[in-house]
Amino acid sequence: MKEAIWAIVDELKRLRAEGEEGIPLSEEAFEELTKFARIADGQEVIDTPDEVEFVKKVDFDFKKQEETKQHQMAQKLKIVVGGRDFEIEAVPEPTPFVLPEADKKTRWEALREIVLGDKVCARHLREGKKIVFGVGNLDADIFFCGEAPGADEEIQGEPFVGKAGQLLTKIIKAMGLEREQVYIGNIMNWRPELPTRTGNRPPTEVEMAYCLPYLKAQIDIVKPKVIVALGNTAVTGLLGADTKRRMGAIRGKWHSFNNTDLMVTYHPSFLLQYASNEKKRQVWEDMMAVMERVGIPISEKQRGYFL
Ligand code: URA
Repeated sequence: MKEAIWAIVDELKRLRAEGEEGIPLSEEAFEELTKFARIADGQEVIDTPDEVEFVKKVDFDFKKQEETKQHQMAQKLKIVVGGRDFEIEAVPEPTPFVLPEADKKTRWEALREIVLGDKVCARHLREGKKIVFGVGNLDADIFFCGEAPGADEEIQGEPFVGKAGQLLTKIIKAMGLEREQVYIGNIMNWRPELPTRTGNRPPTEVEMAYCLPYLKAQIDIVKPKVIVALGNTAVTGLLGADTKRRMGAIRGKWHSFNNTDLMVTYHPSFLLQYASNEKKRQVWEDMMAVMERVGIPISEKQRGYFL
């Protein structure tokens, strides 16, 4: 019974996160629900009066609810891009979700379905573009984490398939691996909007906060030996905003995310922009440290790359 109550509470939270103000419920159903809530766990199953309040709005006015919903849907968030005010769709609190107690593949597929069906992610897409979910080997030792989909990714619905992705694939191959042997994900599942058709911007804190539970769930399913945080946004998302220091000072060092070793390195886009041999060597040294940590042998030839 307790699971059933929690499932209902989770569903109510999900609806509220989507902007629902209340659900139609008969007086009788409301009585039963609150009774079960109290019985199931000594008064405290529905743990905040909020939840009860939410259910209690049984007598709400359908018309008013529709208006409120439309108002919420229309809510915009002002951000500043390149010194210009720009409005994007408001981003709510993350949507709660529950994955089945099952094997990795089943849980991953369930999560993928949730993310691809997420209305908040969908509301932020440019017309005809796709939500992007992680790809790769669910038993991978290495989990590469980037920032957000770019123009190519939002078309193909796959992370790291554009120019930066091609460079990441080269790095993976230089490590003696195939792309299919690692897992590749992003902090964001949609490409952060811009007033222009081209270009990318880093996600805002609320945007990251919305997508992070989906990334964390992927890490939890894959359980890699090592996470590689590619660039500043990945570092901020995974290690917190207070680590927002100069990349040069934190890269090449071991950090920890939920007891998993995490290596920080430059984002492939940075390498594409500042393609000095020195930077390439630094990324390569970071990758050699990752190889050592997961037990991939390094040849003499590999040791000499970019020297
Ligand atoms: N940059 C990223 O951080 N992620 C992608 O998927 C593509 C480019």
